[in-house]
Amino acid sequence: MSTRAAILWGVGEKWSVEDVDLAEPGFGQVRVKIHATGLCHSDDHAVTGDMPTPFPLVGGHEGAGVVEAVGPGVTRVAPGDHVVLIFQPPCGHCRNCARGRSNLCLNAALQDYGAAKPFKARGRDIAATGDLGTFADATVVSERCVVKIAKDVPFAAASLLGCAVTTGWGAAVYLAEVEPGDNVVVIGSGGVGINSVQGARHAGANLVVAVDTVELKRRKALEFGATHAVASVEEAKELLAENTDGRMADAAILSVGVGDGGILGQIVDLTGPAGTTVVTSVSPFASTSVDLNLALFTLSQKTLRGNVYGGVQVHRDIPLLLDLYRQGHLKLDELITKTYTLDQINEGYADMHAGKNLRGVIAF
Ligand SMILES: NC(=O)c1ccc[n+]([C@@H]2O[C@H](COP(=O)([O-])OP(=O)(O)OC[C@H]3O[C@@H](n4cnc5c(N)ncnc54)[C@H](O)[C@@H]3O)[C@@H](O)[C@H]2O)c1
Ligand SMILES: [Zn+2]
Ligand SMILES: [Zn+2]
Repeated sequence: MSTRAAILWGVGEKWSVEDVDLAEPGFGQVRVKIHATGLCHSDDHAVTGDMPTPFPLVGGHEGAGVVEAVGPGVTRVAPGDHVVLIFQPPCGHCRNCARGRSNLCLNAALQDYGAAKPFKARGRDIAATGDLGTFADATVVSERCVVKIAKDVPFAAASLLGCAVTTGWGAAVYLAEVEPGDNVVVIGSGGVGINSVQGARHAGANLVVAVDTVELKRRKALEFGATHAVASVEEAKELLAENTDGRMADAAILSVGVGDGGILGQIVDLTGPAGTTVVTSVSPFASTSVDLNLALFTLSQKTLRGNVYGGVQVHRDIPLLLDLYRQGHLKLDELITKTYTLDQINEGYADMHAGKNLRGVIAF
């Protein structure tokens, strides 16, 4: 069938919204009509070349929609079901899935990203970000890549469960393992980081210090449960020192738009002895050095942790997060600053870079 999608033809290009051919769902696949997709910073790493990507590419990995058609062998969902799309789909039976690390599913990791090419345009087969490609009116994905949700959840809110909310909330709750009374600092309070603020509050944190260079993000962080919001890491360091009797933060979560090994030491310095630093930000793949006083790191027994999808188990945590949303404990609708049409995608990303949006969302 014919549909429309935003294609990236190469590094440094603009997203190009074009008519594309979409393959019919094959064995175990479903076609999803996309109703909303978030403009996550990760898709921009393909544009800048910071993250190696197959080209051409239909972007988007933070989406929600309705199953329109299913291929043979599909058992988990049926046409008409509302779903959130997920990257890193768990198989449910590998060693990591079996031990509660389904975000690190070995079968998802072994999957050859970019091998699935559901779209075709200008005579070429086109890959899809995370094998999802949600910057499209419709996409075809494995049934493992969808989690069914209730029909009353607004699509825009649901789409953010596909990445920003799960990744940010899980960074605090599962990866930083924030406990009641802990002091937490979140550096970069954008679409993902703001959810680490929410997660830290849920986990019972005492101080939640949001650091962001943009005034709007600092104001939003306070609305989302931060106790303090400051503009720089230096200010956060002073504030933590004063308010913790020098014990500093139990957890620091780095979620600025582009990771930078050069500032890692300053972030780790925000934590006290036995503190944990979670690195959510994706750094340029080509950069391989970090600036960190390793002796002090060792002798203060600190932890440095990566982040894949917030360490969440999607089949447990997406329903859990929706329960919290229904009870008013988790803000989802308030994350969305502005909605765009698919044709306005480049404007949406320009607004992200200009710091105008907590999260921009394309509504179809
Ligand atoms: N690990 C994962 O699984 C995963 C998943 C999703 C996103 N990410 C990554 O998380 C990062 C954040 O994504 P996002 O969508 O929230 O981006 P975003 O652009 O919405 O937010 C980034 C925020 O960082 C702030 N910022 C930038 N430089 C800063 C600095 N020096 N000090 C303080 N604040 C600063 C910006 O003002 C912005 O508010 C990206 O690198 C993205 O690729 C990782
Ligand atoms: Zn698995
Ligand atoms: Zn994302």
